[in-house]
Amino acid sequence: MAKREFPTGTLMQGKRGLIMGVANKNSIAWAIAEQLHAQGAELAFTYQGEALERRVRPLAESINSPIIVPCDVTDDASMDACFAALKDTWGEIDFLVHSVAFAGKEQLAGSFIDNTTREGFASALNISAYSFVDAARRASHMMSEGGSMITMTYLGSERVVPNYNVMGVAKAALEACTRYLAADLGPRGIRVNAISAGPIKTLAAAGIGSGRHMFRFNKATAAMQENTELEGVAGAALYLLSSLGTSCTGETHHVDGGFHAIAMPQEAALKASLGID
Ligand SMILES: NC(=O)c1ccc[n+]([C@@H]2O[C@H](COP(=O)([O-])OP(=O)(O)OC[C@H]3O[C@@H](n4cnc5c(N)ncnc54)[C@H](O)[C@@H]3O)[C@@H](O)[C@H]2O)c1
Repeated sequence: MAKREFPTGTLMQGKRGLIMGVANKNSIAWAIAEQLHAQGAELAFTYQGEALERRVRPLAESINSPIIVPCDVTDDASMDACFAALKDTWGEIDFLVHSVAFAGKEQLAGSFIDNTTREGFASALNISAYSFVDAARRASHMMSEGGSMITMTYLGSERVVPNYNVMGVAKAALEACTRYLAADLGPRGIRVNAISAGPIKTLAAAGIGSGRHMFRFNKATAAMQENTELEGVAGAALYLLSSLGTSCTGETHHVDGGFHAIAMPQEAALKASLGID
């Protein structure tokens, strides 16, 4: 894979923020971190457990991160410790990147009606939607001068995508949470937005059944007839988290090559996606 290039500059100079959700160098959160760093931001990172620390720590250290802490969003004590570390070191922050989601593999294949259990539903909504509310509340207490927050969502919240199942429901909740958070935090000068990215090959995406079909169909039928580039997602994050995004809040911004805008693909594109001449 070619090394990613991110526009450099000073848009985030003097800004500090927390990045939640880097698992490895392919994570969307890491591409966002690289872009923010290239514009002068100082970044703190969380990692989920020791196994991921081995991947996250070297990445975070490569951009001189002063705060690299464990965080399991289902555990209040872990969230307390994470935000206490942030408060102790920096006092205040300017932005939050929430790029966290999980649903059990058995929930992400086959039929929604048969495979969605009470426990699977609660866990997916807890990790993938409630965690943004919890993190936003904690982060907002360190944003006395205003700030900006983003989360990551996907079109499966608005329309049915095979195998996405309970995660689509969790993303719909996450997008609604984004609007409610934006309303609560707006008077304090804190903006809250979601980026709806097209499919990107990451650890999380590998858990969804029929991934190959999803990438192929997306590429053939998106307006741009290409899959989503991490650089585009990172660029949107920079816009939303910097002063460029002033006045933008409560928004779900699609970065998916225009896939969401197409109701019916061209016949040739559809045949190509299905491998038919
Ligand atoms: N990859 C895609 O195609 C795509 C498209 C649109 C949206 N998204 C969203 O982007 C976000 C990031 O996913 P990604 O694709 O970069 O995959 P990823 O696997 O790199 O990132 C997912 C992150 O969630 C973290 N996580 C899961 N459970 C957690 C818990 N209990 N506590 C703390 N952290 C936890 C993981 O540690 C990991 O860092 C997710 O919200 C995902 O739904 C992904």
